[in-house]
Amino acid sequence: MIINPLWWQKGIIYQIYPRSYQDSNHDGIGDLPGIRQRLDYLQSLNIDAVWLSPIYPSPMHDFGYDVADYVGINPLFGTMADFDALLSDVHARGLKLIIDLVPNHTSDEHAWFQESRRSRDNAKRDWYIWRDPAPDGGPPNNWLSFFGGPAWTFDEKTGQYYLHQFVTQQPELNYRHPDVLPAMLDVMRFWLDKGVDGFRVDVIWLMMKDAALRDEPPNPDWNGIEPYQSLNHIYTQNLPEVHKLIRKMRAVLDEYDERMMVGEIYLPYDQLMSYYGDDFDECHLPFNFHLIHANWQARSIRQLVDSYEAALPAGATPNWVLGNHDQHRIATRVGPDQARVANMLLLTLRGTPTTYYGEELGMEDGHIPPEYIQDPPAVNQPEIAHIIGRDPERTPMQWDGSAHAGFSAATAVPWLPVAANYTTRNVAAQHNDPTSMLSFYRALTALRREEPALNVGHYTAVDHNNEHVFAYVRSAFGRSFLIVLNFTGETQEVGITGYGEKAPITLATHMQRHGSVTLPQFTLAANEGLVLKI
Ligand code: GLC
Repeated sequence: MIINPLWWQKGIIYQIYPRSYQDSNHDGIGDLPGIRQRLDYLQSLNIDAVWLSPIYPSPMHDFGYDVADYVGINPLFGTMADFDALLSDVHARGLKLIIDLVPNHTSDEHAWFQESRRSRDNAKRDWYIWRDPAPDGGPPNNWLSFFGGPAWTFDEKTGQYYLHQFVTQQPELNYRHPDVLPAMLDVMRFWLDKGVDGFRVDVIWLMMKDAALRDEPPNPDWNGIEPYQSLNHIYTQNLPEVHKLIRKMRAVLDEYDERMMVGEIYLPYDQLMSYYGDDFDECHLPFNFHLIHANWQARSIRQLVDSYEAALPAGATPNWVLGNHDQHRIATRVGPDQARVANMLLLTLRGTPTTYYGEELGMEDGHIPPEYIQDPPAVNQPEIAHIIGRDPERTPMQWDGSAHAGFSAATAVPWLPVAANYTTRNVAAQHNDPTSMLSFYRALTALRREEPALNVGHYTAVDHNNEHVFAYVRSAFGRSFLIVLNFTGETQEVGITGYGEKAPITLATHMQRHGSVTLPQFTLAANEGLVLKI
């Protein structure tokens, strides 16, 4: 148990995709003043920190993850004065602000790349990864882009290829060049000096690539769908040398007070743990994305939680995530009723939870008509757009039942269409309904905040007689809660022994349910979860 937890060890992180949160100037795109208008709402969620996806100047080929200037604000989102005002208001409310840092690649419009591509002997040439064509004139090796096609683009002017594992307009920085990391550390200092509380670091596990650029071997387990998965990415992901970079980034954070970084890392648990650092000198939190791809059944979720708990180094702070701007929404993946159980799980497991905007309402993936498809992997690979496209999970926040869900003025055209169910599934409607998902989310976050057992306590899985129900105990300072979650759409009979007879219900997903249960024999309704005081 963590005795004197820091904010990121105990609090809840809430991710905002700024394009989609609140449009204040009627251009159809969300912005910083819009977020600032919604601080009352954010505070009412009992969250502790807001993470903003990129707000930097960008030609938006990858919706801001192609950064043209690391120390500026995109006019689409506002000005630096707007950012400063937001940061100061966030702090005034006792909340923290985390921003996205995208160190692996820049935009091709970044001044560094503009210089780099000018000539082969430019001082910044080797800040990026350039190579001669293969003997047949093709790309230097077989590496692939996540977004379809080769990871190399030929530059006519200088006769070489440059590396990009995402869109063509996202050239990758070369962290083997001694000047690149110091430049990125200065970017971090710029924002830390302003007072930001930390960074979510984009694709941190990809920052180093094989120096010899060896071909990657085929992936024998490829399912034939997504071309990127056809190779085993042993020379572009999770290279041992990346840890040295991360330690240096961490050292910069440690020059300040209580700042943090959470790294985007999609890896199995045994490899993920190395990103805490041998001496806890790397990521404060390496993102744990395993609930996103999990088989949503009580048995598999328990196994996943237990294997994560077992793999964590002693003293490491765990964390959990249900979704983000790259993944189909949880309410779509498991269904809107089961999404309450998912929120109860997220907010009662041991570890820092991250909520993706709209999860507190049960927002589902929006339907994206073909003419609206904008996400590069979907545009580049139309045959599999319905599987890999990320537009559906990025639709505007559903504030109320008015035109465009209150995201944008009625006269504006939102950059993505609002999901069809906005007329009923929105903040205003749910705010007034004491049993809505929003009311449930607030009750859950309030409980988590007030109970050390839930925010920093121990976790113990509980064996019982029903394989469709996951049960566990959280406890601290002599107070304990038993959480029981029905992962199915059917009623389940459960018997739990060893924790007494009667247990009062502290909170139920079906908020009408009060009273207590008889632990040796009780019934859970379909998609029901209970937090019981034991
Ligand atoms: C990360 C981001 C994703 C982006 C990619 C390239 O995975 O979350 O949205 O497209 O990096 O920056």
